[in-house]
Amino acid sequence: MAWISEDVIREIRYRNSIEDVVSSYVTLKRAGSNLLGLCPFHSEKTASFTVFPNTESFHCFGCGAGGDVISFVRRIENLDYPSAVEFLAKRAGITIVQDDRDKERMQRRKRVLDMNVEAARFFRSCLYDPKLGAAGMRYLSEKRKLDPALIRHFGLGFAPNDFGLLTRHLSKLGYKDYEMSDAFLAGISKKNGKSYDYFRNRVIFPILDISGDVVAFGGRVMDDSLPKYLNTSDTPAFKKSRNLFAMNFARKHCEEQLILCEGYMDVIALHGAGFQNAVATLGTAITPEHARLMKRYTKSVIISYDSDEAGQRAADKAFKLLSEVGLETRVLKLDGAKDPDEYIKSFGKDRFALLLKDTKSEFDFRFDNILKKYDTRLVDEKLKAIEEIEGVIAQVPSAAGREVYIGVVAEKMGISAEMIRRDVDKRTRRAQKATERRETERLIAASQGIGDRVNTDFVKNPQAASCEEKILGILLLHPEYLYEMKKKDKAPSAEDFFTEFGKKIYTLMFEIDREYFDISALGSALSVEEIDRLQKLQMSRTKLANNKIELLYELLETLKHAKEKSELSLEEIIRRKRDQKKMP
Ligand code: CTP
Ligand code: MN
Repeated sequence: MAWISEDVIREIRYRNSIEDVVSSYVTLKRAGSNLLGLCPFHSEKTASFTVFPNTESFHCFGCGAGGDVISFVRRIENLDYPSAVEFLAKRAGITIVQDDRDKERMQRRKRVLDMNVEAARFFRSCLYDPKLGAAGMRYLSEKRKLDPALIRHFGLGFAPNDFGLLTRHLSKLGYKDYEMSDAFLAGISKKNGKSYDYFRNRVIFPILDISGDVVAFGGRVMDDSLPKYLNTSDTPAFKKSRNLFAMNFARKHCEEQLILCEGYMDVIALHGAGFQNAVATLGTAITPEHARLMKRYTKSVIISYDSDEAGQRAADKAFKLLSEVGLETRVLKLDGAKDPDEYIKSFGKDRFALLLKDTKSEFDFRFDNILKKYDTRLVDEKLKAIEEIEGVIAQVPSAAGREVYIGVVAEKMGISAEMIRRDVDKRTRRAQKATERRETERLIAASQGIGDRVNTDFVKNPQAASCEEKILGILLLHPEYLYEMKKKDKAPSAEDFFTEFGKKIYTLMFEIDREYFDISALGSALSVEEIDRLQKLQMSRTKLANNKIELLYELLETLKHAKEKSELSLEEIIRRKRDQKKMP
């Protein structure tokens, strides 16, 4: 099953104790035989992140994340399973000998990366070719005023207006059509099944990942035609929600601060002006993965999005995601230009440096946006504005923080702080109640599997599903039961399970031909969320006294009966939920 042999993985886990690895990210304090710290996966003030050296596992009682050392690394370093294993192998100085599946996967990735390097070279040589690349060069240096050194630094290129230049070049180098389409460098014609160049008549921005591999391309038209940009979609070597443009340069300059922009051109202009800590997302809105990536390299982020409405809306979202991972976040006051690129061109780098010194906090950002929306000389508009601002203040978590903002707003709006305080208090109380209510609803839903993203079938028959999860929990705690049952030919089949999740997990366990194993043995086939769930199922059994094999047989019997009952209708699920809520 596993791509890398199990012995090697065991060795890697053995040489990377969970305590050791976690300690390099989280400050841990001893608590009995366990260790306790602040969870790196959600923001919390009291420690609920627990490391269990005895079982080489971790679990956060706050957000539910859990698993072994490999799934910890997957999460915190944003890696898939094989890369996390590689990461830990390197850390322990182990060389991995790969088996066939792994080799194949790595080869595909390598082919894409190699092809990308060839393509980047090709695009670049086109740009510098006086005939082929004149239009591109004119656009970059004259229209966009980019310095020759800067064009080279970013390895910019040009894709001429031709359907076959790149594909012919790559096929001469031995790349197959399907490989080019794998890499998103070519489309395959529906008419004749042949490949054709995907990027045409565009200036090309190569995208490098942290380790300097060319993972993708962005291509911009040179006029107003649409779409303005074409970007590489996800490939075996690239995921856009995980990469930031120019992070390969910025990582060395951003210990204190990162500048987060919207566009490639903003980043290039900023680097050209000496701000080498600028990055941008890749034609997509900011994701939690981006936020975690930034958190690995910097303490604070300055959002420098476009000054238009879309940019400000995006800033709103960025504030949320960035502060969620614990990054100090502020926003640039960009006046008189539509984006950082234009600002630098109009006012120069010294003025931009001043902007960086005079940024706005999240609160000021929201306050100002409200003031912009209303004409506060009119009484009713002023009232609306105050109400909205009170809403923002009420969301500030600390009472002291709220008090400070109340003072600021009272002064600015010319009304008494006492008034605002009363309204804000009312809102905070109301919000608290709403949170409590949501929490109860979430608990009810969770107990019935509603909104369950890991075990999505749970809700269809909660009885069968929860019975099944108990079975999985016991089997994870006592894998020898399964071994015994298999020997006696009494083991259930995957079809006896009700949910897809249950079927999948059971199949994985069944394939392991050993008396003892733990969750880690299943890790390579599961998402980190699925591992969280298994960890939880196993832990909830640990707390119970009876985990005998007899109970397992009983549960299998119960599961059979529960399965026979038809799946619940949606009305029934909602009715039950309502009834449960009425219960004290
Ligand atoms: N983008 C995209 N596809 C589009 C439009 C935009 O992928 N059709 C992404 C690109 O990554 C782009 C970013 O969104 O860099 C910001 O878009 P925009 O502000 O329109 O472009 P700029 O990079 O600022 O380009 P320019 O200055 O040349 O207008
Ligand atoms: Mn822009």
